Amino acid sequence: MAAIPHHIAIVMDGNGRWATRRFLPRVAGHKKGLDALRVCVRHCGEVGVKVLTVFAFSSENWNRPPEEVSGLMELLAGALSREVPQLHGEGVRIHFIGDRSRLSDKVQAGLAQAEKATAGNTRLVFNICFNYGGRWDVAQAAACLAARGEPITEHSLDRAMALAHVSDPDLLIRTGGEQRISNFLLWQAAYSELYFSDKLWPDFDPAALDAAIADYGRRERRFGRTSEQTTPARQAA
Ligand code: IPE
Ligand code: IPE
Ligand code: MG
Repeated sequence: MAAIPHHIAIVMDGNGRWATRRFLPRVAGHKKGLDALRVCVRHCGEVGVKVLTVFAFSSENWNRPPEEVSGLMELLAGALSREVPQLHGEGVRIHFIGDRSRLSDKVQAGLAQAEKATAGNTRLVFNICFNYGGRWDVAQAAACLAARGEPITEHSLDRAMALAHVSDPDLLIRTGGEQRISNFLLWQAAYSELYFSDKLWPDFDPAALDAAIADYGRRERRFGRTSEQTTPARQAA
């Protein structure tokens, strides 16, 4: 059986285009995107992925039209009440990653509550990056160390990053056809396998995820070594 990535990270891109193609408002695409995410989380649990990290709202997404930003905030608030009990029932542990200070007090309380309620779950760790940027993460980690008077090393920075509770992503997927990182996991994606899908996020179904996982299974991860070092069988051949 091909290797299943322990940690999958996803840039869920293409909601707006999905809606625009149907002459719908962009927020309708984000709603469909939430449906796709629900299915994706469940499928990850079923196939044995242990950590799923998704990019839901970037530090730069505040620059979108105000009605889209408020639609996304409402979607988050609604998801907190509607989705969390279900995820809890499925053994999912939720973490919100990002700068919460700009979110409303009510949403901040909802995030903390969701994390607390699911803290004992072990089936799947689900990190939701919201108001997140890779540069923000590096800067906040460095600021944290500086405030504590600790030396800045690769190890100490890594420990102070927002995803210190999980290993780095093995597979990083971006849907929607663009091939860029858009300020997602700049630090943690150092050795992630990258997979780009032309499917728009609302169309990214379990079969598409299986295809990405199968593609990952065919990659050779070398981490700077040679192919011969990585695959002993080749050395013998
Ligand atoms: C990604 O979909 C979701 C968010 C950024 C919140 P987009 O809204 O970026 O969709 P496109 O790229 O415009 O199609
Ligand atoms: C990245 O998508 C952010 C999320 C998916 C939340 P964007 O649509 O914001 O990225 P760019 O603007 O195309 O780089
Ligand atoms: Mg986009």
